[in-house]
Amino acid sequence: MDVVLRPITAADLWLLERQADEPEAGGRFNWSGYRDIAALRRRFDEDRLISADNGCLIVEAPDGIAGTVAWRRLTYGAPSWACWNIGISLLPEFRSRGHGTEAQRALVAYLFDISPLERIEAYTDVENFAEQRALAKAGFTREGTIRSAQFRQGRWRDLHIYSLLRAESAEGSQPRP
Ligand SMILES: CC(C)(COP(=O)(O)OP(=O)(O)OC[C@H]1O[C@@H](n2cnc3c(N)ncnc32)[C@H](O)[C@@H]1OP(=O)(O)O)[C@@H](O)C(=O)NCCC(=O)NCCS
Repeated sequence: MDVVLRPITAADLWLLERQADEPEAGGRFNWSGYRDIAALRRRFDEDRLISADNGCLIVEAPDGIAGTVAWRRLTYGAPSWACWNIGISLLPEFRSRGHGTEAQRALVAYLFDISPLERIEAYTDVENFAEQRALAKAGFTREGTIRSAQFRQGRWRDLHIYSLLRAESAEGSQPRP
């Protein structure tokens, strides 16, 4: 595997600050406006951005820090019906080299390893062809389209939603004891 996922350290905060401050650092499909860097630092001091319900890890490539992956718990009803929703953001110079596919595969393996949840999902803009392809290569199935779900670049955008179930994941076929 070319990329490794690891927890964020204080030395990595420059990356989160770039993502919060530079639209291109996180990619136009992730950009929702400038974010509060002080709040990010406070959250890092509290729990280094890993809690029971959400988290963020660094994507480390052989030639440097490539970006971040993130996840959050969500439910379609009762708390016990939870699944993970994941996201990814690579710096421009690390895109289109297979790292996005590898990092999302690694995140799926990690989440199925540390939690008993059955479903991991991801959504992406209908025009984000690189992420659609990366998700498909990582084993995700496209389930459908949700309309006018995100407001970016002056208008509401449609998203494709994808999922991968534990039984479909090589590493996640059984929760480990
Ligand atoms: C989206 C992202 C995670 C994908 O990771 P990546 O490392 O660039 O992608 P990979 O190299 O693993 O795979 C990309 C695939 O998409 C294809 N692709 C790239 N641009 C494409 C385009 N415009 N049209 C069609 N296919 C495209 C590539 O050819 C490759 O497929 P292949 O291996 O079959 O040739 C990464 O580009 C990124 O972080 N972008 C900015 C942030 C973002 O958009 N995040 C997702 C928000 S939901």
